[in-house]
Amino acid sequence: MAKVKAIRGMNDILPSSTPIWQYLERQVSTVLSSYGYNEIRMPIVEQTELFKRSIGEVTDIVEKEMYTFNDRNDESLTLRPEGTAGCVRAGEEHGLLFNQTQRFWYQGPMFRYEKPQKGRYRQFHQIGVETFGMASAEIDAELIVLSARLWKKLGILDAVTLQLNSLGSTESRQVYKADLTAFLEARFDQLDEDSQRRLATNPLRILDSKDTNTQNLLADAPVLSDYLDEDSKSHFAHLTELLDASGIRYEVNPRLVRGLDYYCKTVFEWVTDKLGAQGTVCAGGRYDGLVKQLGGKPTPAVGFAMGVERLILLLETLNAIPEEERSSFDLYLAADDKAAQQAVFALAETLRDELPSLRIRCHFAGLKNINNKARQSGAALIVLIKQTEQGPVASLWNEDALVQSDIALSALPEMINSAWQ
Ligand code: HAM
Repeated sequence: MAKVKAIRGMNDILPSSTPIWQYLERQVSTVLSSYGYNEIRMPIVEQTELFKRSIGEVTDIVEKEMYTFNDRNDESLTLRPEGTAGCVRAGEEHGLLFNQTQRFWYQGPMFRYEKPQKGRYRQFHQIGVETFGMASAEIDAELIVLSARLWKKLGILDAVTLQLNSLGSTESRQVYKADLTAFLEARFDQLDEDSQRRLATNPLRILDSKDTNTQNLLADAPVLSDYLDEDSKSHFAHLTELLDASGIRYEVNPRLVRGLDYYCKTVFEWVTDKLGAQGTVCAGGRYDGLVKQLGGKPTPAVGFAMGVERLILLLETLNAIPEEERSSFDLYLAADDKAAQQAVFALAETLRDELPSLRIRCHFAGLKNINNKARQSGAALIVLIKQTEQGPVASLWNEDALVQSDIALSALPEMINSAWQ
């Protein structure tokens, strides 16, 4: 019978990779807690309505990428394609947003029916950050500075660049949208097929088109920054001032519009040229209108989400993962004859009592080639027990050589401890 396989674009994260995931997650949570952010955990499934009303009916995500199904009660549900909508829903439902300031973060799988390729999957993972109740540009800057700190900690800062833009207010964007549409309608025949379709539904997304002809055409198109309202202009100026003062480099990209409808004012993306087409590793912006749009009181908000798979690909490409983070244990404990094997079990427990941070893996399989197996385990330390007439004794190796042989088991914890330093 044919074997059942995983769904295309939905990957197993195997034990050989999980140490790297955990390393990344640890770095992120350390940075986020140093800025006073709290973790929130939302359900993976929400009412379909939530995503339609927030991300926007005529976005790619809602039009063609959502995993939507009716449950047994005939209610339309959707596997979350992103975390912002659910976070706003949860915050509002539990009264955490109105008249308060909040800094939340979340992590977990998101689902989009996209064409799988390197860096693009149907189940992928985001670590997202959402803040509420702060209207001024300081919090936009904090999010960017915080992410830059994380890149630095991960050793990837030099491989990413920050693209920045302001989308202005909904009103100023409407005026721009009308002018852009008029400009493009007059050149409809020269547009690529996708852009022709978008012209009627979401003309701003045409600015994102990868088609060279369309891009050339856009060179003479009206520019969004010329349409910004005064408030958005000064917000953006203050943000760039703060970034300049923090030594954060950025490129203002007037064509950066993002694929979700809820943004206003600041939008940004951290991009890399090291991963091919899927180069955006982190993206976000301000969404002051969303809480109200979902039924709450007007509440300013800004956030971002990073793509965990893409960050890991980048870490791998740059060889930026510390060697010790790749292994899942430090010490391999084995016996080289049957008589000594019983000592292994008890000794491992004693060592775990005395050296609780040491990660110990016991060898419980056959004894053939035990020396080689221990070496190939990748452990930084190896302990081999053998039976003598005086009872079991141990020998200790580090990665390079024998540290000592014939160690009494009672002396082993101290010896391991000093070899481990
Ligand atoms: P997004 O740009 O749709 O924004 O996704 C954020 C990041 O998730 C992307 O930059 C990318 O790294 C990763 N990502 C997206 N789709 C995929 C995929 N199919 N495979 C792998 N990685 C992917 C949002 O989701 C917004 N909720 C971000 C936000 C939070 N804005 C404000 N707060």
